[in-house]
Amino acid sequence: MRTKYEFDDYGARAIRGTIVHAPVYGELEVLPRGVITVNALGIITGVYSECQAKAKGIEHTIDLGDKLILQAMCDMHLHAPQYPMMGLGTELELLDWLRTYTYPIERKFFDLSVARDTSYALAKELIQNGTTRICAFSSSDVDSTLELMRILEAEGLHGYVGKVNMDRNCNSLVQETTEQSITETQKWLICCNRQNNIKPIITPRFTPACTDTLMKELGVITDMEGLRVQSHLSENLDEIDWVTHLVPGTTHYWQSYKQAGLWKNKTLMAHCVWSDDNETSAMQESGVYMVHCPTSNMNLASGFAAAADKHRKHVKVVLGSDIGAGHTLNMFDVMASAIQTSKHVEDLPEDRLTVAQAYYMATSAAQEWFDEEPGFCPGNAFHALVVDDSQLPNSSMLTPQARLERLLYKRQQDWLVAVFAKERCLYNI
Ligand code: GUN
Ligand code: FE
Repeated sequence: MRTKYEFDDYGARAIRGTIVHAPVYGELEVLPRGVITVNALGIITGVYSECQAKAKGIEHTIDLGDKLILQAMCDMHLHAPQYPMMGLGTELELLDWLRTYTYPIERKFFDLSVARDTSYALAKELIQNGTTRICAFSSSDVDSTLELMRILEAEGLHGYVGKVNMDRNCNSLVQETTEQSITETQKWLICCNRQNNIKPIITPRFTPACTDTLMKELGVITDMEGLRVQSHLSENLDEIDWVTHLVPGTTHYWQSYKQAGLWKNKTLMAHCVWSDDNETSAMQESGVYMVHCPTSNMNLASGFAAAADKHRKHVKVVLGSDIGAGHTLNMFDVMASAIQTSKHVEDLPEDRLTVAQAYYMATSAAQEWFDEEPGFCPGNAFHALVVDDSQLPNSSMLTPQARLERLLYKRQQDWLVAVFAKERCLYNI
């Protein structure tokens, strides 16, 4: 029988265990028997090695022994209404997949009881997989989007959710008129509580689904309200070809966002599989983030995105599950997939993504997007996982770095002991 730890919700704590975090890209810092202290608001007040903790007389309130204390996962691109279609329909490529499966399932989300059930199930599965912060697309419907935001908030998650804008080339069940899309967005923004942990983000679906007029209006709203933006970029070759025809006068997909005022510092662009040097430089110059979604890219045969190469070119890279095109909400799986993808795209073995780099992308890089410091750092909110791998072979003989590496590929039953999101403990077995 495993010890059951009593982590009270809402309380200051000091926990001791084997801390593995990523304060620097590509480097893991390990603190065996390290201690993290957290205040009652859920803010980290100190991170100590065993020696420092002893010297300073820091008392731990909970000793986790040799269990791993890891940074909690950030899923920076997912589609909440697509939760029921995970693992289905991936025989089609992007544009056919959207028309055949995705738009119809997003229409079902307009039904508030479907939205409610889906949102609770999604929140539960995110937490059970160690994800506490997200950037999610909702549907184009306002009421179901507000319901999704309310439920994610109540379940203790943090991050951003966007009401999706789409006024052309979609199924009539989900498509809005331009006018409707703008007024519904304004209505939604009035109803959102910006003090909450789940905040609104402007979300044009992608250029093929948004007229220039709509995009420009969203650009104005973004500036007026000081909001952030998320969308899709250069995911699929047919999509890119279509954009060239839809937006005459542009040579690159990114320019369709730029001319609307949506290409900004911290704009999140999912995929970027086919972004060339011109698009990559434009991302780097403007501080646009690439959200690498390797599981989705493989499922929809979109291609292999060069995430490590983007990072070398000084583009910020974070990771996303992109469910329902992605088949898993587990960001350890997504990290493994990012590493596997890099083996296909990098010419030199030394350029392939490492575990430390993938872990940084799944945690610290996203924390920077959320205006925090990388790693476990005083001043950051305490988003952490306690992981047990004692049932896997040779755990006591492996380095903590190797134990993290294995977790990407293999986890024991009941591997997750606890999930902390700021002042709350969301999961505790
Ligand atoms: N591009 C536009 N919409 C979507 C979507 O729902 N999923 C993915 N993977 N790409 C998109
Ligand atoms: Fe997506």
